[in-house]
Amino acid sequence: MPLARSMSITSLSGLEEWDEEFDLEDAVLFEIAWEVANKVGGIYTVIQTKARLTVEEWGENYFLVGPYVESNVRTQVELIEPTDPALKRTIDKMNSSGCKVYFGRWLIEGSPYVVLIDVAFTAWSLDKWKTELWNNFSIGVPWFDREANDAVLFGFLTAWLLGEYAAQCEDPPHILAHFHEWLAGLGLALCRQRQLPVATIFTTHATLLGRYLCAGSVDFYNNLAQFNVDKEAGDRQIYHRYCLERTAARCAHVFTTVSQITAVEAEHLLKRKPDIITPNGLNVKKFSAMHEFQNLHAQSKNRIQEFVRGHFYGHLDFNLDKCLFLFIAGRYEFSNKGADIFLEALARLNYLLRVNHSEVTVVAFFIMPARTNNFNVETLKGQAVRKQLWDTAHLVKERFGKKLYESLLIGQLPDVSKMLDKEDFTMMKRAIFATQRQCQPPICTHNMLEDSTDPILTCIRRIGLFNSSSDRVKVIFHPEFLSSTSPLLPMDYEEFVRGCHLGVFPSYYEPWGYTPAECTVMGIPSISTNLSGFGCFMEEHIADPSAYGIYILDRRYRGVDESCNQLTSYLFQFCQQSRRARIIQRNRTERLSDLLDWRYLGRYYIAARHMALAKAFPDTYYYQPHESDTNQGFRYPRPASVPPSPSLSRHSSPHHSEAEEDDDRYDEDEEAEKDRVNIRQPLPLPSKKGPAVPY
Ligand code: UDP
Ligand code: G6P
Ligand code: GLC
Repeated sequence: MPLARSMSITSLSGLEEWDEEFDLEDAVLFEIAWEVANKVGGIYTVIQTKARLTVEEWGENYFLVGPYVESNVRTQVELIEPTDPALKRTIDKMNSSGCKVYFGRWLIEGSPYVVLIDVAFTAWSLDKWKTELWNNFSIGVPWFDREANDAVLFGFLTAWLLGEYAAQCEDPPHILAHFHEWLAGLGLALCRQRQLPVATIFTTHATLLGRYLCAGSVDFYNNLAQFNVDKEAGDRQIYHRYCLERTAARCAHVFTTVSQITAVEAEHLLKRKPDIITPNGLNVKKFSAMHEFQNLHAQSKNRIQEFVRGHFYGHLDFNLDKCLFLFIAGRYEFSNKGADIFLEALARLNYLLRVNHSEVTVVAFFIMPARTNNFNVETLKGQAVRKQLWDTAHLVKERFGKKLYESLLIGQLPDVSKMLDKEDFTMMKRAIFATQRQCQPPICTHNMLEDSTDPILTCIRRIGLFNSSSDRVKVIFHPEFLSSTSPLLPMDYEEFVRGCHLGVFPSYYEPWGYTPAECTVMGIPSISTNLSGFGCFMEEHIADPSAYGIYILDRRYRGVDESCNQLTSYLFQFCQQSRRARIIQRNRTERLSDLLDWRYLGRYYIAARHMALAKAFPDTYYYQPHESDTNQGFRYPRPASVPPSPSLSRHSSPHHSEAEEDDDRYDEDEEAEKDRVNIRQPLPLPSKKGPAVPY
């Protein structure tokens, strides 16, 4: 057996201790997901951010298992020889039997080991395995469903890997396999059917039916108990996928999901109540200087402003210093992610800002990947024009400086009227002429493949937000995830978020919702909903979330139009805040980071693993829910220093002026520190649910 570390839950720094010790000396953890080293959405973020903590706990005995995707491996993985002799034998054996399995280190924090399986290489087995799936589970997968075919291949290959590993170990190992989402679920079902010595956990990050039903016009949350699940899945042609998902949930020793709201959904749609909720955390970076994240905001905002200068060239008739950047980001599920009501609210906000003669201009970014064939010419031209203006200004400045220098060298003050000559003026005129534009600044940065039917573009056409100069709300649709190597907006997602003022995520279907959580740890306020796992979690743990810049929209008990009005009013209030109020608010938002740190939330995963080990290997492991399981209801208090709503906050100095209101150099540190003392008290242990299935 490889080197193992004995893990104690008491090792989580700064948090209340659990007195039990769980000896994991001879246990090995495999964590299996389609999004290991393969970014699709939030599951990638779960695995990637949690890795460091899991490596700290499990050391050399932790292996992530995912699909081999060459482009990802080239940029993210260092391929090496397997370190564990039993795993080396396993991989060698599989590779000599017609598989392609790679081993390496994933180059992320914690550098976890990864086993990557090339599913396409074993596609020759697909028919055989599908027959086996039909014979043993009565699940028939149609030939045309590529994703489900991948799930079959991945499932059989991971079960093969785990079975072979168990056989290759000299001592009987205690293998723990944690599977994420339906795409990886078949591996779990096969482990149980083949009776492998493996403790299994299945975590669902959404239910397939939930996602599909919500995307239609169904009153989902009021009818959860009534759905005829088989019929609904059949009607949507996802019956086979649904069966794979439900089988994994039913077979697992321990079944978990990411939020209470999805737990209820799973109970009705997958017919099993999750044993424990495992909320999603993040790897929170703390800066030594308290205001470092504010400086980062200013730096990133400058870069977004540069982009906006280019995008709106020829139409820069608004004050960039009074411009607020709002954004929505994530997988492109138009109504599930609430892009529909965001657009509607933006149209209403546009009207309100206009009739109130507001000086504020809002630029709303939509970062949602869709099918495109690259950037469009007009958008690229915008950045080229901006660069040309910048270069021209620099050239003229250089020439000016040279003349000035020469004049000073001969002891004369320069004749200002001669500092710019005809050539300089010609250059500048040419540059200005280049900024003339016949069309409005584009809405979309790319050429869309389905332009005429695209839901965001169709909605924009209907509500008429066309970036015209009278609009106080401008819209930019970037149908691709951000990247620091983009020729258009060369920023990675984190930098971009830091530079924005508000993230808007008015989701209707959102089991967790990483995007607002990421905003929080970067100190950027956000809007989420009481239908998202994150929104409900924050509502449960914070006495007055909006005072911390966490606005939670009511989409559960209000109709669409009412929710849209509430969203509009949040947005309008936000636009009325002074710079000073925004800075205070960002400080408060950032203070909530501890609550979302894996160092705090990781314990739910620990509990799930202990539960599974105790269930699968009752002679070796014993799990008893801790007494603090009943300790519920911890809440962050209201901020101590100022009234809850930043827009209403009073000035601490009696001598303040209008200019001061917009000045960021006021002394807020003392106030921030007052709050911090309150917040930094040790957090009590979160409550664990006792297992729903007796064992
Ligand atoms: N994201 C990203 N690049 C972008 C926009 C989004 O990497 O340009 C990531 C973001 O960091 C987040 C994930 O996409 O972690 C979306 O996860 P979420 O849980 O919000 O939603 P999902 O897409 O999984 O439903
Ligand atoms: C941060 C920076 C300040 C900057 C401010 C802008 O707090 O430290 O230097 O003025 O951000 O805030 P705003 O909300 O207007 O982007
Ligand atoms: C899913 C959900 C999302 C969640 C993510 C990670 O993709 O849609 O809400 O944050 O998984 O759990």
